[in-house]
Amino acid sequence: MSAADAGTTAGASRHANGELREADRAAAPAETTPARIGVIGAGYVGLVTGVCLASLGNQVTLRDIDEGKVSALERGDVPIYEPGLDTLMADHRERLTYTLSLDHMLEQSDIVFIAVDTPPTYSGDADLSRVMTVLDELEATGADDRHILVMKSTVPVGTGERVRAELEARGLGKVGYASNPEFLKEGAAIEDFLAPDRVVVGDFEPQHGDAVEALYAPLEARVVRTSVPSAEMVKYASNAFLATKISFINEIANVCEEVGADVAVVAEGMGLDRRIGPAFLRAGVGFGGSCFPKDVTALKQLAGNSGYHFQLLTSVIEVNELQKRRVVNKLKKHLDTLEGRRVALLGLAFKPETDDMREASSLVLAARLMAEGTRVVAYDPVVTHPGDLVHGVLDAESVEAAVAGADAAVLVTEWTSIVESDWAALRETMSTPILIDGRNALDPAQMRDLGYVYEGIGRNGR
Ligand code: UGA
Repeated sequence: MSAADAGTTAGASRHANGELREADRAAAPAETTPARIGVIGAGYVGLVTGVCLASLGNQVTLRDIDEGKVSALERGDVPIYEPGLDTLMADHRERLTYTLSLDHMLEQSDIVFIAVDTPPTYSGDADLSRVMTVLDELEATGADDRHILVMKSTVPVGTGERVRAELEARGLGKVGYASNPEFLKEGAAIEDFLAPDRVVVGDFEPQHGDAVEALYAPLEARVVRTSVPSAEMVKYASNAFLATKISFINEIANVCEEVGADVAVVAEGMGLDRRIGPAFLRAGVGFGGSCFPKDVTALKQLAGNSGYHFQLLTSVIEVNELQKRRVVNKLKKHLDTLEGRRVALLGLAFKPETDDMREASSLVLAARLMAEGTRVVAYDPVVTHPGDLVHGVLDAESVEAAVAGADAAVLVTEWTSIVESDWAALRETMSTPILIDGRNALDPAQMRDLGYVYEGIGRNGR
């Protein structure tokens, strides 16, 4: 138990014995005075956080070390693809400042969000070097007791306590600290920020948590106030649980294929049980992205470092890796050999509405097919030059161009524009009409009526 968990004396809003306490948002003031907010790291999380907080009326200074990014932001260019972000940024430009200077950001702000990368290291631990660099910089620049650091980056449980100790060691013991994990889905980040299921705030001293909670008051969201380690754990546990749900339904899909059941119906039937819920029960070619693979591995590693073998997560990761490759066997079943065949991959990003290719299932699939000697032609509405990511993959400018002359097509990412293609016309251009629906996004009966040899994931016989 941490020092914060043990604390019971720090005021009315404090949790007792480490248990989560949900603050009743209805009792909180709906209006707050605008805050002066700094954000360190204008990446995906930092930018969305900064722009959304500006949209709530706060003055926000975003600081990044990348000169190109800062000047792009100053010009009004959004360096990432996130629906709605450009409009929100433009609408609130008078409350948004971008800078390279930490000094300037500290002058302009009281509450400072840390939103730097914490990528996995070779050991599977999260790399905290960027967080530590920020602390070095804060020491050099001179943060003071006016400042509250708020950790938005996903960091291993225990990081807050480590940061506290590092601040003390640097003579910055008066700087406040709170943990406020992000739960943003790429492609829906603005909505997730402005209409969250919950806001989690962990603190060592309640006045710091109060200041962070006040920022979210206009959203009238459920707020969970807790200790810093518990807040850090909520983030990891949430992502690990969602990833587990996906691997679980993927395994159910694989069994459905063996026994002649349809996973879409099975998932619907399961999801109607309120204890299970319908979300994250879509079977497919596995989860990807910058969060699930990284966080599941980091939680497994974190447990291992403390002497606990998190067996379930080991399986979640393994099931996901195998799931990415299952399409290859499906193709082999229909084409005998993949050598010299032309296969179209439709959709490359790890999910629709993003240009993010990190840990995308398409990468593993493309590489596996290339290793089989297949000619891979790929199309994505946003991601271009796939050959830069997997050597030899050909870039197509449209679904039509990718599919023309192909021996098989694989729907990898369910972009609406791809799902809504003219499948009847596409079929006519294919060498053989084999269609593998890696996201169960198409209607099997309709595709078969159009003459496709259609296979989804776990949709045997339907
Ligand atoms: C995920 C979480 O959903 C967010 O709550 C969290 O804040 C974020 O990670 C993070 O830690 O920053 P994200 O990675 O953007 O968000 O994407 P998701 O929409 O969760 O999808 C992740 C992957 O799971 C995708 O590859 C998607 O195709 C796959 N997935 C999702 C399925 O295969 N089946 C499903 O039913 C749902």
